[in-house]
Amino acid sequence: MESATRAWDMAFYSIPFQPGDRILTAMSEYIGNYIAFIEVMKKTGVAVVPVPDDEFGQLDVGALASMIDDRTKLIAVTHVPTNGGLVNPAAAIGRVAREAGVPFLLDACQSVGQMPVDVREIGCTMLSVTSRKFLRGPRGVGFLYIDLDAARELEPVFLDGRAADWVAPDRYEMRPDARRFEEWESSVANRIGLGVAVDYALEIGVAEGYARIQALASDLRSGLAALPGVTVVDQGRERCGIVTFTVDGVAPSDVKLRLREQRINVNTIDPSNTLLDSEARGLGEIVRSSVHYYNSEDELTRLVEAVAALT
Ligand SMILES: Cc1ncc(COP(=O)(O)O)c(C=O)c1O
Repeated sequence: MESATRAWDMAFYSIPFQPGDRILTAMSEYIGNYIAFIEVMKKTGVAVVPVPDDEFGQLDVGALASMIDDRTKLIAVTHVPTNGGLVNPAAAIGRVAREAGVPFLLDACQSVGQMPVDVREIGCTMLSVTSRKFLRGPRGVGFLYIDLDAARELEPVFLDGRAADWVAPDRYEMRPDARRFEEWESSVANRIGLGVAVDYALEIGVAEGYARIQALASDLRSGLAALPGVTVVDQGRERCGIVTFTVDGVAPSDVKLRLREQRINVNTIDPSNTLLDSEARGLGEIVRSSVHYYNSEDELTRLVEAVAALT
C-alpha cells in the first residue's frame, strides 16, 4: 500500500456497514481514522462509540467487553497513539474481539518497528503499518495485514486487474487471498526499501531494540519531569519511545525551532491529531521527542540540558 493511511482505509472502507451498526474505538484514536469514521457515520448512519480510558489512560478493556452487543460491527483502535507514550493493550482487546466474533482493525503505524508485534498473539483481523516511522524505511509505502478468512469474506472497496480476473464481459472473479486488496501499480523502489528496512530491524532484534527504547524513553521522561516548568504529558501502563511534554512560557513550535538550532530534532503535535483525548485532557499543542534504540544516553542528556536552558 502507498501509506499506513491507505492500508487502513482499504480495510475500513471495505466493511459493508449498515445503518445502526456500531464502531467501537479508543479515546486516543488518530485523526485520519476518525475522519473516516465520521464520513461513514454521515453516509450510512453507523454510530461511532469511543470506549473510555482506564486509570492508566489506555483503552479500558473491561468497558470494551461490556459495550459489545449485536450492533457492534468493528473494533478499531490505534496501538500507539500520536500524542503520548501510551501503548494500548492490543492483545487484551484482541481476546475480547475474538470471543465476541467482532472484526478488530489495529492501527499499528507507530508500533511496528518499535516493539514486537505478533498478529496471532494479538488476534487482530486487520493491521495497518507505515514504512516511514519506527521501521525507518522510505516514505510513501506501508502495508496491510489481513487475516485470510476475513480477506475471503471482504470485497475490497477498489478492485482492479490484480485483485480479480476478468472472466466474462459482465463478470470478474476475485483472487482468493489477501492480494485482492493490492493494486496493480506500485512504487517498486519503495517496496524494496521497506523490505530492506524490515530485514534490518529483524537483524538488530525488535525485542532487544524495544527494551532499549523503553529504557531510554523512561530516562528522558525522568530527566524532563525533573526540570522546573516542564510537564511530561505521557500516559499508559506500558510506555514506549514517544515522549511528549510542554514547557511553561515557551510555545511548542519555539521549543522545536530552538532545539533544531542545536541539531536536536523534536516535533510538535497539534491537539486535532487526537481530538477526543486532547479535549478530555485539556491538551494544547505539545512537543514530541521519539527515541529509537540507536539514540545514545549522551544525546538524551543534551536534549534535557537544552530544554532546561529554554526556561
Ligand atoms: C497513529 C497513526 N496512524 C496512522 C498514521 C498515518 O500514517 P501515514 O501518514 O504514513 O499514512 C499516523 C501518522 O502520523 C499515525 O500517527
